[in-house]
Amino acid sequence: MDHYAVFGNPIGQSKSPFIHSQFAMQCEERLTYEAMLAPLDGFADSWHRFVGLGGKGANVTVPFKEQAFLLADILSDRAQQAGAVNTLYIDKSGNLCGDNTDGIGLVADLNRLGFQLLGATLLLLGAGGASRGVIGPLLDAGVSKIVLANRTESKAIAIANSFDARVQACSFEQIATLQYALVINATSSGLSGERPQISAVHMQHCTLAYDMLYGPEPTPFLQWAQAQGVLHIADGLGMLLSQAAEAFYIWRGKRPDIEPVMALLKAQLFK
Ligand code: ATR
Repeated sequence: MDHYAVFGNPIGQSKSPFIHSQFAMQCEERLTYEAMLAPLDGFADSWHRFVGLGGKGANVTVPFKEQAFLLADILSDRAQQAGAVNTLYIDKSGNLCGDNTDGIGLVADLNRLGFQLLGATLLLLGAGGASRGVIGPLLDAGVSKIVLANRTESKAIAIANSFDARVQACSFEQIATLQYALVINATSSGLSGERPQISAVHMQHCTLAYDMLYGPEPTPFLQWAQAQGVLHIADGLGMLLSQAAEAFYIWRGKRPDIEPVMALLKAQLFK
């Protein structure tokens, strides 16, 4: 039986073992998938130990995505663009390959929600790893413009500089007044019960507000968006499932249906 894992620190709350065991059942694949707590200074050692015991591939989460990027022998274009790896596997020649399925996971989730990305103007809030990883796949999906706003403007500028003129950086105060059909919160503000402090003006044309975080209740940003009259809100649970489904596809060549697993997660984990 093939062995997979997710490496992180902390890792106790990870939904990935549940998700991948459900995917394996659905696709009739025989595999194990476990959560691995790697020491903060010992990700590479943990990975090598896992491979020594027969590990075939892994997901990588906070804070090891950049270390996984440095460890991989071969990087996919999307991992290179993101500067981070969330999926590792060993190819037939024994090379350690690093990929990043976070951005394609977001795009898949936005498609699932029926949002038309082609030609859209987006407002993307936050300039950390979460934001950087999704810009390339959003542009590849046909988005015409991404306004990247961050509390600390310099971090947004640094990210925008690695893309073309379709990506424009600014502070929250200087967001251009455009017709944003989609506003994505990629900040971690929700973790401290806060929302990014942007003007309500930017939500006027918004049909979908998306927060990459998820939880039993809508995040403060989504609650605020709803109060501004935004019709549709979505949290990052669909993105979590979709990035996992893409990783599963890389490893096993089968793409699972996320809907039944999403229903189970909502029912069992958030009751
Ligand atoms: P990640 O890799 O998850 O994106 P990160 O690199 O720590 O995490 O980035 C966190 C992001 O959330 C940053 O854009 C941060 O803004 P700053 O660059 O100004 O620090 C943003 N953030 C965190 N808390 C926030 C808050 N309360 N309001 C607005 N932005 C916040």
